[in-house]
Amino acid sequence: MAESLGVAVIGAGMAGKAHAAAYRTASALYSPVLPQVRLVSIGDVNAEFGSLAARRFGYERNDASWQAIAEADDIDVVSVVIANSLHREVVEGLLAAGKHVLCEKPLSDTLDDARVMAEAARSAEARGTLARIGFTFRRTPGIAYIRDLIRNGTLGNVLHFSGRYWTDYGFSPAAPMSWRYKGGPGSGALADVGSHLTYVSEFLCGDIRSISGGRLTTAIDKRPLPLSAVMGHDHVAVSDTYEAVENDDYAAFNAEFASGAGSFEVSRVAAGHANSLQFEVFCENGGAKFDQRRPNEIQLFLNDGHGSRNGYRQVILGPDHPYIAGGLAMDAPEVGFGQNDAFGYQARAFLEEVAGLSDAESLPRCATFDEGVRNMELLGAVTESALNNGKKITL
Ligand SMILES: NC(=O)c1ccc[n+]([C@@H]2O[C@H](COP(=O)([O-])OP(=O)(O)OC[C@H]3O[C@@H](n4cnc5c(N)ncnc54)[C@H](O)[C@@H]3O)[C@@H](O)[C@H]2O)c1
Repeated sequence: MAESLGVAVIGAGMAGKAHAAAYRTASALYSPVLPQVRLVSIGDVNAEFGSLAARRFGYERNDASWQAIAEADDIDVVSVVIANSLHREVVEGLLAAGKHVLCEKPLSDTLDDARVMAEAARSAEARGTLARIGFTFRRTPGIAYIRDLIRNGTLGNVLHFSGRYWTDYGFSPAAPMSWRYKGGPGSGALADVGSHLTYVSEFLCGDIRSISGGRLTTAIDKRPLPLSAVMGHDHVAVSDTYEAVENDDYAAFNAEFASGAGSFEVSRVAAGHANSLQFEVFCENGGAKFDQRRPNEIQLFLNDGHGSRNGYRQVILGPDHPYIAGGLAMDAPEVGFGQNDAFGYQARAFLEEVAGLSDAESLPRCATFDEGVRNMELLGAVTESALNNGKKITL
């Protein structure tokens, strides 16, 4: 095992800060078995964002180009947390330089680029360099617990899944133009939050076999240009010059799993739902509900023969559930946790794999680039269905 691992994060935006904070805490989650983690650099073309994040999260420096990070001898592990259309160039450059890469979802903005990235990842892995993708919600304790209940037979085979990922970052027409509103059909809400929801659905229910009933809609077709750099979903002052929104504000579709069926809706214009990943999964022995707005609990229905007294029960998550025992500084029942903690578990899992800890000693591994391609194939099928009046697309 290496004596230490030098870490960098490329992108100091909304999710980049979550990665930067996660590497800070990763070695303090669970037993202290990781090599020393050195927080080396935050890379951002916006030097102000980069320098602020480096100071805030305790990184030694900031760099203004990804090439500087690729060339740096003191960096081993890099998170790539920038616009989807930039992932390919940066990831390929980093892998060629021998850096272990954790890339944000979706893997890229086009399926062709994603496939090339997966090829690069396979070659890199043959040289001992890892490339993984951060589908953060698999680290959400409630979601991981429902998966366990399905797999261990408590809930059993899935009959159907109903999922929505409603956000409202674009519901105001004054929300400024950003990279999120640019790209081909399916690169909007579908790629942004539909990537999470489809990944979660297969994580719980198994492989999707076909997609049908695809629909993509752009509700607000132009956006004002910002007068300063936009981070994440921030509302900055805007000019009176507008540019066209190129992609979807809303997407809906149906899916057929190997076992069971599903319906999906995603949106970035769902007023009042800032970050509502919600689903219900109905199984042969009962059902479960999850709502990201209440991440410390799930609702569980078990058909346990109580007839008229049966009903959904609230299960408060704690040390008896995935990730919590040892994974929070105070891991007592009902202490509460949220989405930022999931980034910590993700960073920990990636560092464990890079450090060479065995599967048995580690958290579940991060998803591979091949899984990232698979996810983009699903999103591509939704888009193809939508462009063909809801046609059934077999995967
Ligand atoms: N896992 C999650 O929950 C989650 C949440 C949000 C975003 N994301 C993903 O993270 C990625 C970034 O999203 P975001 O919301 O943080 O974006 P953002 O717009 O907030 O931040 C992007 C940052 O990248 C910087 N940048 C632009 N070009 C660059 C370049 N060539 N080199 C270095 N830096 C550059 C920008 O200055 C900006 O600070 C996307 O792939 C997105 O899908 C994941």
